[in-house]
Amino acid sequence: MPVITVPEAFNEEALYVDLRWSFGYSLYLKCEGFNFAGSIKLKAATEMVDAAERDGLLRPGSIIVESSSGNLGVALSMIAASRGYRFLCVTDSRCNLATRRAIEALGNEVHIITEPSPESGFLGARIDHVRMLCASDERYVWLNQYTNPDNWGAHFHRTGPEIAAAFPNLDVLFVGAGTTGTLMGCARFFRQWHRPVRIVAIDSAGSVTFGGPAGRRMLPGLGTSVRPAILDESYVDDVVLVEEPDSVRACHRLARNGFLFGGSTGTVVSGATGWLSEHDAHHLTAVAVAPDLGERYLDTIYQTNWLQGIYGEDVLSPRTRQSV
Ligand SMILES: Cc1ncc(COP(=O)(O)O)c(C=O)c1O
Repeated sequence: MPVITVPEAFNEEALYVDLRWSFGYSLYLKCEGFNFAGSIKLKAATEMVDAAERDGLLRPGSIIVESSSGNLGVALSMIAASRGYRFLCVTDSRCNLATRRAIEALGNEVHIITEPSPESGFLGARIDHVRMLCASDERYVWLNQYTNPDNWGAHFHRTGPEIAAAFPNLDVLFVGAGTTGTLMGCARFFRQWHRPVRIVAIDSAGSVTFGGPAGRRMLPGLGTSVRPAILDESYVDDVVLVEEPDSVRACHRLARNGFLFGGSTGTVVSGATGWLSEHDAHHLTAVAVAPDLGERYLDTIYQTNWLQGIYGEDVLSPRTRQSV
């Protein structure tokens, strides 16, 4: 029976959904949404705040500031509330309303960037805003998830070993790429493991992370308009780019079977099942990481008007609506 005194102390680390019933492959989906922050970003937030406290960067009176598409913002809000800091989250107009409200409910402030930078998109504009805040008041402490080694360190110390303990015969691991913290931490962990593991990065089409052209992306979490500084492609064996309508369809397919996951999980599942069928991989032990759950996306991915307004009338084909 876990009994806790601070919210970051609880995280379900050993829950997997076997997707064989749906996709025909034994793909094990590691569920990272079962903690008080509701996402995998709890791990990165905890590791970055712990290190900043250890290094004397965060002190009483400090105000944590961070650019986040939402989930890191919720995780930092929770930790800030639990440890007595203030927190300011810089996000953009694509952030879900529920995420924004959660940050505010935890007693923190949200700044919403509405205009992307012409050269570096929304992310570039968010980072410019964070820099401006830090220059204006020395109480601001920017943990900077895009460059901070403790972001990937969290997954090197936790997510990688958790998967290794559950799947000693792991062959292939599918990880979505946002800041690439999860990807790089797991990849670095499995590089020094007892057997080779194929590391497959899943990214959104329109993301510049792996060198593709920038394009419109509406789902938060994966993809970026500025190449992540912590990415080292020498650790990545394959990259799969997924179109957003395919992410949406995968989410609805999971939901029709009772599993309500977030958008990036749809992207990862779509990319992973595509890769597995192309590689005729029935014999492989495969794991994919599901970063969060679906409640925060009820007004977007699970809302027909929103979907049709963005992706067109046919985004949910009749086949997708049926149970699979
Ligand atoms: C829902 C969701 N999925 C995936 C990611 C990507 O994780 P990472 O930043 O470790 O690449 C994030 C990061 O914010 C996220 O919020």
